[in-house]
Amino acid sequence: MSKLFSPLTIKGITLKNRIVVSPMCQYSSIDGFANDWHFVHLGSRAVGGAGLIIIEATGVSPEARISPEDMGIWKDEHIGKLSQITAFMKQQGAVAGIQLAHAGRKASTNVPWLGRGAVSVADGGWQPVAPAATAYADNYPKPLALDDAGIQKVIGDFRAAAERAIKAGFEVIEIHASHGYLLHQFLSPLTNHRKDAYGGSFENRSRLLLQVFEEVKRVLPHDIPLFVRIPGYDWAEGGWNPEDAVALARVLRDHGADVLDVSSGGLVEHQKIVAGPAYQLPFASKVKREAGIMVSTVGLITNAAQAESILVNGDADLIMMAREFLRDPYFPLRAAHELKENIAWPKQYERGKF
Ligand SMILES: Cc1cc2nc3c(=O)[nH]c(=O)nc-3n(C[C@H](O)[C@H](O)[C@H](O)COP(=O)(O)O)c2cc1C
Repeated sequence: MSKLFSPLTIKGITLKNRIVVSPMCQYSSIDGFANDWHFVHLGSRAVGGAGLIIIEATGVSPEARISPEDMGIWKDEHIGKLSQITAFMKQQGAVAGIQLAHAGRKASTNVPWLGRGAVSVADGGWQPVAPAATAYADNYPKPLALDDAGIQKVIGDFRAAAERAIKAGFEVIEIHASHGYLLHQFLSPLTNHRKDAYGGSFENRSRLLLQVFEEVKRVLPHDIPLFVRIPGYDWAEGGWNPEDAVALARVLRDHGADVLDVSSGGLVEHQKIVAGPAYQLPFASKVKREAGIMVSTVGLITNAAQAESILVNGDADLIMMAREFLRDPYFPLRAAHELKENIAWPKQYERGKF
């Protein structure tokens, strides 16, 4: 059997294969609600055979959203439609995961197809918060620096969101601490200029993430895996680097993290990303080897042979893909065909198998 199609048990949850749909914002919600777009989008990728589908960065509060159209999980009313989606995924043999997120200073911005940039309060935007009162870019909103009460609210919002996610049937929870959003803004010295217990040393900059992690973990049933998407590198002078990622991974491992999803970039406008096939794999494999924790890798992984060789080399435990899944929701079925794996197809689609 190929590694790609071998199952993986994490805590009480078994993934039927190692192929994961990476979280992807759809910017298609009204007031945070999932709708039929999400049902079809996520449902088709479940039909397509992914082992785990992590749904998009989901705002833990209204102000945690990137855009006014982001999905949210800040009120109980959000649970209903999400439950319908997770139930369908489960029927297809996919595990449903959710990424809990806070955009920090990258909040209150336009959806990508409107060119990002600030959405004013008059147009449905809001006042973003961040570790420091420094905007991401000239056309982004200027955030307010979080005070102690604001920090406590963020921690409580993540906890309440995790509780709702469990009620909605999610079986993997991921905390988003990368891509330049709030928790990453606290981690990196480039964006964290605080003088209190949340800024300065590595320990202080990691404090908010660890407090969020602890609170989320506290409300999760014991069989539910907790993932964290961490930054591997800021791609900018003086920023977060792969050694920091390893140091953070060791701490998260000791706090009981199950999988680290190692990504990179998104923190500062002047970043210089060098992208190519599997370009973030070196960060993930370093974390796996030096911190001794399961990792997921993401970034320009686009075919079955490439994904299989990453796993065979022992560089990662899970393969996440985003854009390839936009091109082909049935990527896993196609990959099985290429690797000559005799996996179960949805019975309605079996005639496509041979
Ligand atoms: C449409 C789209 C939306 C995305 N939204 C998210 C998101 O909600 N959370 C996140 O962590 N990454 C998000 N990403 C980044 C992907 O999860 C992934 O890390 C990145 O696209 C690199 O993987 P790829 O080369 O397979 O696309 C998004 C990417 C795309 C293309």
